[in-house]
Amino acid sequence: MKKLNEESLTLGVCYYPEHWPEEMWEDDYARMKELGFSYVRMGEFAWSIFEPEEGKFCFDLFDRAVAKAQVFGLKVILGTPTATAPAWVTKKYPDVLNATQDGISYQHGARCHTTYNSETYRELSSIIVTEMAKHYSDNPTVVGWQIDNEINCETNVFYADADHAAFREWAKKKYQTLANLNQAWGTVFWSQTYTNWEQVYLTRKTVPNSPNPHHALDEKRFISDSAFAYVKLQADILREHAPNQWITTNGMFGHLDNHKMTDELLDFYAYDSYPNFGRVIEDSSEKPLRDRKWSWNLSVVRSISPNFAIFEQQSGPGGWVNRLDQPSPKPGQLRLWTYQSIAHGADMILYFRWRTATKGTEIYWHGINDYHNQPNRRVKEIEAVSKEIKQLGKIVGSTYQVEIAYITNYDNSWDGEFDIWHGPFESKSRNAWIKALQYNHVPVDALNFNNETTLEDLSKYKVLVYSHAAIVTKQQAALFEVYVRQGGKVIFGCRSGYKDETGQTYMKALPGYLTDLVGITVEEFTRVAPFEQVPRIKFREFDELEANDFNEVLQLQADVEVLATYTNTYLKGNPALVKHNYGKGTSYYFGGVFNLDLATSLLAELQLNNYHDQFSLPEEVELSIRHKEGKDYIFLLNYSELPQEIFVKEEFTEAVTGTRIMNKVSLKPFDVLVLEP
Ligand code: GLA
Repeated sequence: MKKLNEESLTLGVCYYPEHWPEEMWEDDYARMKELGFSYVRMGEFAWSIFEPEEGKFCFDLFDRAVAKAQVFGLKVILGTPTATAPAWVTKKYPDVLNATQDGISYQHGARCHTTYNSETYRELSSIIVTEMAKHYSDNPTVVGWQIDNEINCETNVFYADADHAAFREWAKKKYQTLANLNQAWGTVFWSQTYTNWEQVYLTRKTVPNSPNPHHALDEKRFISDSAFAYVKLQADILREHAPNQWITTNGMFGHLDNHKMTDELLDFYAYDSYPNFGRVIEDSSEKPLRDRKWSWNLSVVRSISPNFAIFEQQSGPGGWVNRLDQPSPKPGQLRLWTYQSIAHGADMILYFRWRTATKGTEIYWHGINDYHNQPNRRVKEIEAVSKEIKQLGKIVGSTYQVEIAYITNYDNSWDGEFDIWHGPFESKSRNAWIKALQYNHVPVDALNFNNETTLEDLSKYKVLVYSHAAIVTKQQAALFEVYVRQGGKVIFGCRSGYKDETGQTYMKALPGYLTDLVGITVEEFTRVAPFEQVPRIKFREFDELEANDFNEVLQLQADVEVLATYTNTYLKGNPALVKHNYGKGTSYYFGGVFNLDLATSLLAELQLNNYHDQFSLPEEVELSIRHKEGKDYIFLLNYSELPQEIFVKEEFTEAVTGTRIMNKVSLKPFDVLVLEP
């Protein structure tokens, strides 16, 4: 896996020199330097400055901005500006524009209005990226490149003519013959059979709006491949013309295999972290994680790049003029979110943005500095964080300590977007597991599972959770079998193992090829209907635990232990949750959707390290550990606006101040403690 290689923890900021009078730059850079920043990211939306007319290149403004940054010892990361095609591009070449599923073109006026598959757009992108790469390749201040900006942000579906044509070619390459394609998409159903390649399109508006699901799954794979090819186009140019500067891009958005993109094209992965969304997104579930949910996002980022960069760390209240409104971070939250990123493996953090824009769509997306540019609470908080980070530089490159992984899988997540018989269950079960792990102080990784995953990848973990593994091939099931036989533990939920890679169902009892491993088949299943009694199960301390959403009746096929049975409805007395000792390991199968109580209770029997020998921690506090050269660096993060009492059972050193601590310690609201032995 590709990772960021920094020499110390570093901070920086996103800066838009083109938004400000040039007389301000010097003062801005001077204050960045005072704040201890090392990096400035710029240029990613400035195409119309770099190329105001077709073929006329103009680098003066950014040359001066980069040169001035050099005077202040700041390093520059340049963005390629292809997320914002200028008006001259779209006027002269309307074929570059993306379209809605109805085929109506997007227009100039916001950003991300183009499509990766337009040959014209690829050509225009190559030209501007080549010119920029040549121009800045020898500039010692420019250390690296961000390709485009947030690939697949704003929209992650593409329906322009160029996309339909490219999809046709993609399908030809994948299936070779129409017979194969018809087979894979099951087109015999509803007479959808294709008899000529010209009949093949991306999904279009249908009556009702329900296109063929196997086709819809391939559409997502195609979008990911298109985005990959577009990033590759730029990466190849940058590698050729600017071989001494690193390359990355910032994410993370849908319909893109970020793992493959990073492994094959980038030097490391960068993420844009906006935990404040967690405070405004509707979450009616029990004990919502709010901004702490971003710890899971950061775990996914870590599964792409074990040490990564944050290219946009939220640093103020948020909002576009017309949407996405968010509250101001409370005192302490900017510090908390910075440490949240670091605790999960970020070694470089750039705040978004230096100063709030005074014009355009994002006048409410606040930077560190306000419009008035006078010292404010947020700048002071970041100044204090920066001083602390200096003391923690040594943890750079350290690795996250973990015993359990929650499995992610692109095929299942893309298939699940369109399949209400497993897709919605995954996020419910994942939330339940992530909460159970968070509130019990058990650190968790994300593990991206695919056909290249090896036994070695799985064996790094004592326990794997794969909540609703709908698509599971014979080979994948065999890999899980070996993992468990050698001592691993794996947990599956309902709707596992019933689909092949096209998204069609096997003519087998569920859970398909997983049957031997889990020791059961599914005798029958049902969805929980609204307004009907919710089935309940008896499990350990719970006499009556709700088994919401979906219920499977399990039929024992091997010597399995029944851990829970249904206690009401016509399901009463039937097994719902089983444990199967298999080789040296164990598999668990639950014929339902996990909830917090069940995940918490199962967690208790998995015997994972929850660090209770060293600490007694309230639920509000997250524990994360980074390890380097025989030393654990323990991050304790308080997400609550109330003070929290923690109890430290061994003596530790507080890494920032060097103070020895033990016994009772009080964490202030949103406070963070970093401990070392
Ligand atoms: C994203 C983008 C930024 C900015 C912020 C805030 O992360 O990369 O350009 O738009 O969101 O909206």
